[in-house]
Amino acid sequence: MKVVHTIEELRDQLRGQLRASFVPTMGNLHEGHLSLMRLARQHGDPVVASIFVNPLQFGPNEDFDKYPRTLESDIAKLEERRDVYVLFAPSVREMYPEPQSYRVQTPEGLGNILEGEYRPGFFEGVTTVVLKLFSCVQPKVAVFGKKDYQQLMIVRSMCRQFQLPVTIYAHETVRESSGLAMSSRNRFLTEAEQAEAPVLYATLNQVKDKLQAGATDPLELEGFAKKMLADRGWQVDYVSVRKQMDLHVPTVAEIRNKEPLVVLAAAKLGNTRLIDNLEIML
Ligand code: PAF
Repeated sequence: MKVVHTIEELRDQLRGQLRASFVPTMGNLHEGHLSLMRLARQHGDPVVASIFVNPLQFGPNEDFDKYPRTLESDIAKLEERRDVYVLFAPSVREMYPEPQSYRVQTPEGLGNILEGEYRPGFFEGVTTVVLKLFSCVQPKVAVFGKKDYQQLMIVRSMCRQFQLPVTIYAHETVRESSGLAMSSRNRFLTEAEQAEAPVLYATLNQVKDKLQAGATDPLELEGFAKKMLADRGWQVDYVSVRKQMDLHVPTVAEIRNKEPLVVLAAAKLGNTRLIDNLEIML
């Protein structure tokens, strides 16, 4: 695997490659990331991965400084798996040599709901860096995880609207045996919080069970799930039943007509904010 830190080196490595398959990450790689690289390998060649903790997608009171940076061990994991041909690990200065005054504006009704409501500017930061990374790598395909469900949807719609010649593939969320979705932020959980964390996914499953048993009131289900988490000490940002198609709240009639749904949640355990989601077919 070649490790490059500049756009010039990256372009030298990829010259003439028209079928590159790309996995953008912020590093601190775990099995979830590694499975994205494996999927990338099935859809293109060479596989390019990036590790870049993107300051543009962190709010002023968020964990940009604390975000785990583990390049050496990340490289070792990638070397061991042998799925990636080039790893692009640029500095902030390389990606943002001047203040980034041009940004991708995400659409009302998609970029400002759920995560966008609680993390203003987050999706502008994500889409702007993804567009820049796509421009550096010029991949034919790119792979994103379903754990960041809204991000996946926004990246897909950005590619469609800007007519970018990149096909986006999604990988299912990879979970610990407890059900906890793998995430770089899990390492911030204390031992007691680690034992509690799987309750988030268990709660989403309870919402799913209720919907599949005939419940049709999304607000009632959300109230139930929020209370369940809050009673156990979670600080809940949202638990919300949405339509898979556009992340809008489904009507009772749509639920009755078996609209494909997804329940999404974000909640804090101590100082660590976790997100998760579960697709639901009725
Ligand atoms: O999902 C992530 O790790 C990041 O949001 C991404 C897509 C690499 C952009 O910084």
